[in-house]
Amino acid sequence: MLAEKYAERIEKIFAKYPDKRSAVMPILYIAQEEYGWLPQDAINEVAAICNLDPTQVKSIAGFYTMYRERPKGKFWLHVCTDLACALRGADEFYHQLEEHLGVDHENDTTADGVFTLEHVMCLGACDRAPMMQCNFHFHENLDIDKAKALIAQWRAEVNAALNPPQPEFT
Ligand code: FES
Repeated sequence: MLAEKYAERIEKIFAKYPDKRSAVMPILYIAQEEYGWLPQDAINEVAAICNLDPTQVKSIAGFYTMYRERPKGKFWLHVCTDLACALRGADEFYHQLEEHLGVDHENDTTADGVFTLEHVMCLGACDRAPMMQCNFHFHENLDIDKAKALIAQWRAEVNAALNPPQPEFT
């Protein structure tokens, strides 16, 4: 399905690489865009497109944090808890976020499917911790109140999309 639906994009990507195997990462992005995450069917399709074994594709997808191996929330929150950030309170910040969102390590996605919270290793913003990445955009020098305000704003966006303002008839 990906091969047909995204044939033009895939051809453009292939043109940038010496062989199809080397293009696996951008093709994985296309699959993730289509499915929202990388189920086995998507892995199989990417493997077929890139002339790789599905096991090889799965191991690449599993290695990098930007690929989703499970369904995630609409807003994917990454908090760095690596050493430099930990020294600036990132662990405590992470636990406060868990409490605020009602998630934990086992169940990292909110019940309404809007937010997924994960901790990650260094994202290169060590001097601006605590920091959080939301759908790959950085938010730095945070505290729990600033993070709660961001979360409220994102939740309002989701609610607005679900319940668009109705026209007023006079
Ligand atoms: S240690 Fe957290 S961004 Fe570098």
